[in-house]
Amino acid sequence: MSDKATLEINGKKYEFPLKVGTEDEVAIDLKTLRNATGGVITIDPGYKNTGSCESAITFLDGEKGILRYRGYSIEELAEKADFLEVVYLLIFGELPTQEELDKFEADIKDKSMVDDDVKKILDAFPKAAHPMGVLSSLTSALTAFYPSSVDVDSEEDMYKAIVRILAKFPILVAWTMRKKHGLPLEYGDDNLGYVENVLKMMFKKPNSEYVQNPILVNALDKLLILHADHEQNCSTSTVRIAGSSHAGLFVSLASGISALWGPLHGGANQAVLEMLEAIKEDGGDTKKYMAKAKDKSDPFRLMGFGHRVYKNFDPRAKIIKVAADEVLSDLGVEDPILDIAKGLEKEALNDPYFVERKLYPNVDFYSGIIYRAMGIPVEMFTVMFALGRLPGWIAQWREMRMRKEPIGRPRQLYVGETYRDFKTIDKR
Ligand code: SDX
Repeated sequence: MSDKATLEINGKKYEFPLKVGTEDEVAIDLKTLRNATGGVITIDPGYKNTGSCESAITFLDGEKGILRYRGYSIEELAEKADFLEVVYLLIFGELPTQEELDKFEADIKDKSMVDDDVKKILDAFPKAAHPMGVLSSLTSALTAFYPSSVDVDSEEDMYKAIVRILAKFPILVAWTMRKKHGLPLEYGDDNLGYVENVLKMMFKKPNSEYVQNPILVNALDKLLILHADHEQNCSTSTVRIAGSSHAGLFVSLASGISALWGPLHGGANQAVLEMLEAIKEDGGDTKKYMAKAKDKSDPFRLMGFGHRVYKNFDPRAKIIKVAADEVLSDLGVEDPILDIAKGLEKEALNDPYFVERKLYPNVDFYSGIIYRAMGIPVEMFTVMFALGRLPGWIAQWREMRMRKEPIGRPRQLYVGETYRDFKTIDKR
């Protein structure tokens, strides 16, 4: 294969080098395009054909339904690793030795407190506030309490900021939920593991001991692993571009939380459950909703279906679908919503509209069914996605800073008014 791409514009030819990744993906290196051509740029709404960076963290093949973190398959990691190991792998590039994992966990536990004044900020929010807006605000507010986590040029300072946010984020997640439900704010227990701690902080009742349920621990551990990273998705790209101005880690993460909130992205897991509930209320009439999803005049989309990259089954959806069956049966929970979801999936996978557009269930289609069986309120579903995605955002932000990437500043094609003289108000 040639190592160059040739572009012809107005009869003049320009050559640009081809870059080949370790999975044989090919990219045209257009770094010199505008200077070489005297101003010509590319335009690619939604960046469907545009790579923003070179990354060594996550590889996914949308056609084959492959997802790997640092070369390890998502199937193996979901089955054999625990979330904290995957956090370490994503951020530092290797699965940790026992000694490395113990030190990492100890460094995180050393920071597992949040300044009590953060509660005053939380108190200012109305109970009706959506938890994603609260979480984004509290994450950004942490900068005020821990200013040393802002200018983190050295690897050592970056590490301190990373373990700080890994320790405090689950506390903010738990407090966000508890505040909304009028529960006193709980701390965790440093004798517990990372995921056990999340569950205790979220669900402990003030007047009784919290008893860990291994089914819930395993289910949450697996869900967090499955959500941990996904290359340059909308929220991760937001974290990277915010961090590229050398804004601090916490505020870059807060921008990612805001982007994830959108119903086309992480907000889809809440939208899926609301859609399935609506179908159930409507007598389980899945055909009506399939018709709505295909009707171009109807803004309704089949939430949890379709993906920018996966044009095959989302491997995470396959794993979560099996886990949903297991968790519900282990918990002895009968949820008609799961049957509606399976019916909808079966119909869509045999419907020409969905087949032609290669629309398959994505990570959000079944995850909410497990969250609900675990007793997590629907408005907290996207917060759980953010908790899972935290290490991916951190890993991508750290990679961008360690590689000293330039500030992100896309170009545009101007299509507005050309020059015109100012009009005084009497002449408008
Ligand atoms: C996540 O990027 C990531 O990696 C994201 C994520 C991660 O881990 O970070 O995987 C997490 O965000 C998963 C996606 C969750 N969102 C949803 O489930 C919302 C429903 N899905 C759609 O909105 C849509 O599929 C997107 C946003 C996910 C992808 O949109 P694209 O790639 O921009 O595709 P498109 O909108 O151009 O759709 C192509 C065609 C269109 O029809 P035509 O114009 O060709 O006739 O497919 C149709 C769309 O109308 N289509 C759908 C549909 N999704 C796409 N039609 C009905 N229902 C849907 N869900």
